[in-house]
Amino acid sequence: MSSTELQDRNVAWFTERPDDSQLSADARHLLESYSRIPADDVVEHVIKVRNQAWTIFPYPCIGQFRFLDMSMKYTKEYPELLERLAKGQRLLDMACCFGQEIRQLVADGAPPENIFGCDLREEYVELGYQLFRDHDRLKSRFLTADIFDESSPLVKLQGTFDVVYTGSFFHLFDYANQVKVSTAVAKLLRPEKGSMILGRQIGAVNAATHDHKTNPTGKMYRHNPGSFQEMWKKIGEDLGVSFSVDATLHELARDHFRFHTDDTRRIHFVIRRE
Ligand SMILES: C[S@@+](CC[C@H](N)C(=O)[O-])C[C@H]1O[C@@H](n2cnc3c(N)ncnc32)[C@H](O)[C@@H]1O
Repeated sequence: MSSTELQDRNVAWFTERPDDSQLSADARHLLESYSRIPADDVVEHVIKVRNQAWTIFPYPCIGQFRFLDMSMKYTKEYPELLERLAKGQRLLDMACCFGQEIRQLVADGAPPENIFGCDLREEYVELGYQLFRDHDRLKSRFLTADIFDESSPLVKLQGTFDVVYTGSFFHLFDYANQVKVSTAVAKLLRPEKGSMILGRQIGAVNAATHDHKTNPTGKMYRHNPGSFQEMWKKIGEDLGVSFSVDATLHELARDHFRFHTDDTRRIHFVIRRE
């Protein structure tokens, strides 16, 4: 993408200001109580940080304020995650961007030192500290790494995480690269029964490859539950590990359909090592 295209706000996935569905009550609560931002300042604060992030790379989720859409806390596994973290287990938010899910976990009482975030872009991690105003107090650790880089600091952490969360990450890639990235994420798990990967991303009723301007190869593979399970069966066979995979489709907010086909859904998944 050229730098002119990078700056372009005239795209269907950029909105100038967050509406009520984008600035969720959860996000507002987190920004007011955890980050101690006065209620009247929240919207302008969020817009300011988002506009900086847009100039770094214009992901649709940044253009649409989706980072304010707390997701992990609505999974049925969330109480289990809090319990596992309280017992000393380790969670990685892979491709964490601003790290909003990490802040939600910490605000909900999880021990911050057991939580890690990793992203390709250090600037997003820095903007996360600005968004949540916690540089001086958050004890979770962040690292910068490209999931494809076999010599990145992430590789040294292979086999050490009990839980890996990935939100809107695997869908950045075409099918072949989703297999590579998912395999790299699977290798981060502690090699024990019960280690898990969970997350969500764009999916579809009909699994297929679509054009997608901001993805590295210009393509996005949208899974349905069947194709997702099949991909993970193959990944398990290649790694010599068996995974149970629970994947479900969910309706998207209407504004997604300004730039997605009618059969687009969100896919939620939980992958457990058996
Ligand atoms: C669409 S955002 C999703 C952010 C966040 N997980 C969420 O749910 O709001 C995708 C994130 O993936 C990161 N990313 C893209 N390619 C990556 C790679 N090769 N390795 C690590 N992170 C990557 C981007 O920097 C960006 O923060």
